Amino acid sequence: MLVWTKDLSVGVVEIDDQHRELFGRINRLLKAIDENAAADEIRTLFKFLETYVVKHFGDEQRYMDQYEMYGYSDAARHKSEHASFISSIGEFRADLEAAPPSQQFVTEFAKWMINWYIMHIQHIDKGLGAFLRKVFPVLGR
Ligand code: FEO
Repeated sequence: MLVWTKDLSVGVVEIDDQHRELFGRINRLLKAIDENAAADEIRTLFKFLETYVVKHFGDEQRYMDQYEMYGYSDAARHKSEHASFISSIGEFRADLEAAPPSQQFVTEFAKWMINWYIMHIQHIDKGLGAFLRKVFPVLGR
């Protein structure tokens, strides 16, 4: 399970709130898988998570595009990581739609999802947060 800690804060209210919501959705999905919930329920929770991920990435990218003129230099790498994540989660979804989740699916998905998101927040989102707070302090806490 993912546990939100203060060191994961990027210091921008909207982004932190969305990350917490994402953690909640990831945990609901992992809990349902862990409790052997029905395949339809797992697929529904997966879609619920995937939809929110796409919205969240879109919102971050709108910040990047809106404030590009102020010199956020990591936009290309950041957007590329988002695109890679969306591609990977689509592959997991295809597997899930083809068959009920196997133990291998559960292990690989949970490990990938948790590692990816923690690393992404720590190494990329925090940079975006620092940039936004510097240019527009009102976005911070
Ligand atoms: Fe919070 Fe760049 O995803």
